[in-house]
Amino acid sequence: MTSQPHLKAAVLIMTVFLITGIVCYASFSPPSPAEPVRLMFQNDAGKVLFTHQTHTETYLLDCLDCHHNLYDDEIYDCGECHGEIGDEYMPSLPDAFHEQCIGCHADYGAGPVECNSCHVM
Ligand code: HEC
Ligand code: HEC
Ligand code: HEC
Ligand code: HEC
Repeated sequence: MTSQPHLKAAVLIMTVFLITGIVCYASFSPPSPAEPVRLMFQNDAGKVLFTHQTHTETYLLDCLDCHHNLYDDEIYDCGECHGEIGDEYMPSLPDAFHEQCIGCHADYGAGPVECNSCHVM
């Protein structure tokens, strides 16, 4: 037979373990940034499907390869900084997309570079 004090001690120890476990889980489990799986861009030249998660998980690209100019831990739409009109210093929004997408595909020698291989729909 377990005596009352022993039972109380056991419950107390189990409670401590449980709380420790929850705290550890909360503090050490990796952060999961809300990364889109895929994005569809609509425009006059035809829709462009961008396999966002495949680019990070399969092609092993770093967030910063594309989300450059990070001043804090937030990720912004390209259009937060790139406007419809660009200049020598800063490309317009469509040029920013084209330069980055096509530039990297050309560098890797992989991925679409022809208009109608991206603007497929
Ligand atoms: C190959 C380029 C590329 C890589 C690598 C990449 N992203 Fe993106 N991401 C984009 C583009 C392009 C958009 C669309 C931006 C827009 O619509 O202006 C986007 C959009 C996002 C958005 C949605 C932003 C919003 O509020 O609409 C989040 C969140 C995001 N990315 C997170 C990440 C994270 C986290 C990583 C790293 C694990 C990452 N991205 C890696 C290109 C990339
Ligand atoms: C926080 C502001 C900001 C955001 C968000 C941003 N850019 Fe830029 N981008 C800039 C600035 C400023 C420049 C010019 C100076 C430089 O290169 O840093 C630039 C330059 C560029 C260039 C010219 C080449 C280069 O790398 O210098 C490309 C291409 C580009 N951005 C693409 C993108 C794309 C695509 C996105 C979205 C995934 C994006 N940018 C998001 C601020 C931003
Ligand atoms: C930093 C490098 C990089 C950037 C930036 C990039 N890509 Fe890619 N992309 C790749 C690589 C690497 C592949 C893989 C090609 C292969 O293995 O056949 C690829 C493949 C693709 C493919 C064909 C396979 C698939 O997954 O659908 C499409 C479509 C594509 N990219 C669209 C885009 C678009 C749209 C953008 C800009 C919003 C973009 N990519 C930006 C590196 C990049
Ligand atoms: C690697 C993929 C890719 C290739 C290759 C590509 N584009 Fe795009 N294009 C995009 C993306 C992504 C956007 C941005 C869509 C958005 O902002 O909604 C875009 C936007 C556009 C737009 C709309 C821009 C605006 O002014 O609103 C036009 C027009 C366009 N592309 C034409 C072309 C032509 C012409 C070619 C060939 C010379 C080409 N694209 C090649 C991915 C690509």
